Amino acid sequence: MLDLYLFHGNSHPQLAQGVAAYLHTPLRDRLVSRFADGEIRVEIHENVRGRDVFILQPTCATDEGSVNDHLMELLVMVDAVRRASANRVTAVVPYFGYARQDRKDKPRVPITAKLVANLLVRAGIDRLLTMELHAGQIQGYFDIPVDHLYAKPIFLEEMRRFPPEELVVVAPDAGSAKVNRSYADRLNSGFAIVGKSRYAADASQALTLTGDVKDKHCFIIDDIIATGGTMVNAARMLKEYGAKSVRAAVAHGIFAGPAFERLADSEFEEFIVTDSIPLREGAPPVIRQVSVARLLGEAIRRTHFQLSISSLFV
Ligand code: R5P
Repeated sequence: MLDLYLFHGNSHPQLAQGVAAYLHTPLRDRLVSRFADGEIRVEIHENVRGRDVFILQPTCATDEGSVNDHLMELLVMVDAVRRASANRVTAVVPYFGYARQDRKDKPRVPITAKLVANLLVRAGIDRLLTMELHAGQIQGYFDIPVDHLYAKPIFLEEMRRFPPEELVVVAPDAGSAKVNRSYADRLNSGFAIVGKSRYAADASQALTLTGDVKDKHCFIIDDIIATGGTMVNAARMLKEYGAKSVRAAVAHGIFAGPAFERLADSEFEEFIVTDSIPLREGAPPVIRQVSVARLLGEAIRRTHFQLSISSLFV
């Protein structure tokens, strides 16, 4: 058995079990519950003195708890293992909440990604293992090592089901163009960009299409789906321009507000999303989850043995 201690909060027990199974290591005994007034109550039931500790907790909302609940659980757990003399503490946060407010793009707004980074470091983490950050530069908000994983190997496997000459990788906005172009280069496929304008924090419009999608199978890749507006509008535009089929590959499925209804009613033939966030009840059949448990498990194993993680993505 590996000499590492894997704990988890309450946001995603299923993913934690998948990671533990991959590592052939048990999920360690702990209590993460609430006091009568709602404050978070944590007890670590194993001796972690001198141990290499990993705490898995995506900071997402679920039916059982909010983003804030899960972030606070993580902070309290880090405090507990730190005070119990763990040798090294790695926060494993497949979905890093509050990441979308990552710069001061108008007066008097916060940079919550940096605030959360400060909170985690002050609580006592030594390392962060995360996945598909909304902006890669958030790594720089931490002055500790950050390992940043990509869903790319998983998504490439899905896209290779189609012959490259019939495939077009689509960026749903200019911001994702560089990353998505690298998919097209890897696949030798076509590439297109949907121009998007955002007229409110949670509402967007697809405006222009650059690239040829006529009679092609399109894969739109994005880091996040929240309300679904970006994706559904892009899919509609691709169909209007003659796409044969439209699919999506998205790292983090927040599925907020009207997202499920919009997708049920959309042009998508298939909507692939990783399980970095648990899928809520009521998801339409068009959504298919692919697991990142093996990827996370392997990254944890390599962190523990001080092996390269970047080589997972070559
Ligand atoms: C934006 O920069 C992100 O990459 C996503 O495109 C966005 O968060 C999706 O939001 P929604 O699903 O609400 O359109």
